[in-house]
Amino acid sequence: MAIATELLKPTSRAEAALLEQIDLKRLPRHVAIIMDGNGRWAQRRHLPRIAGHRAGVKIAREVIETCARLKVPALTLYAFSLENWRRPKAEIDFLMRLLREYLKKELPSIHRNNIRLLVIGRAAQLPEAVQKDIEKAMRLTAQNTGMKLIVALNYGGRAELVDAFNSILDRVRLNGLAAFQADEETISDHLYTAGLPDPDLLIRTSGEMRVSNFLLWQIAYAELYITDTLWPDFTRERLLEAFVNFQQRERRYGGLSSPHETGNGAR
Ligand code: FPP
Repeated sequence: MAIATELLKPTSRAEAALLEQIDLKRLPRHVAIIMDGNGRWAQRRHLPRIAGHRAGVKIAREVIETCARLKVPALTLYAFSLENWRRPKAEIDFLMRLLREYLKKELPSIHRNNIRLLVIGRAAQLPEAVQKDIEKAMRLTAQNTGMKLIVALNYGGRAELVDAFNSILDRVRLNGLAAFQADEETISDHLYTAGLPDPDLLIRTSGEMRVSNFLLWQIAYAELYITDTLWPDFTRERLLEAFVNFQQRERRYGGLSSPHETGNGAR
């Protein structure tokens, strides 16, 4: 049986101690992260906000690598929300440039590590150059069988539900209404995340107690982990702490005992 320290070389005693506590069989199957606090991180250092975003990309890279090494099946990062268009144009342009830079630099290593890149959100409204880079990355990694890295871009949870309802209506129009009845599976199957397990761990950095329109349907049973740590400070050690904390929780799914204990496999 693999142990965590065989998959990931600890870089400090603290990391080693956390890795010792991790049971690989009980890692989350899908980690979703609201990466918040880049601006505040920069402000505290008297730096421009964009310096916070740059530091944020570095941490995203570290988190992606850690999850991939530990064989977490899916990781979703909230990189740009529908609401983020309200930011100053210069900051939006910088974020788009940063994303393209990230893809250009990291795509070879993402591919080499058998990671499959997916994008969720209304991608058609993104700048054309970004769309092209995303399509290229998704095409290149389409056959990869390792971790799924899902980047939420121009994403909103309510918009996703609207898109799902409209796509269900399209299906009804095409096939006729008579025998059609929607159930939870129908809705899940029409979300951007169709085919992915629902997140079982939702991490939010920088302390805000909100879900901010992120994966509204999918996080119904997710464990919430909200930390005051700002995103650029959310190092590997902080992520491992979140995993250990997740493993200490008893998941009930509205019932009396955790499926990990009963082995009934309910999600
Ligand atoms: C929140 O900080 C972060 C964002 C708006 C998203 C940007 C994310 C990155 C740059 C990470 C990169 C991810 C990938 C996949 C390459 P904020 O500006 O809202 O901080 P504040 O709340 O302190 O102002």
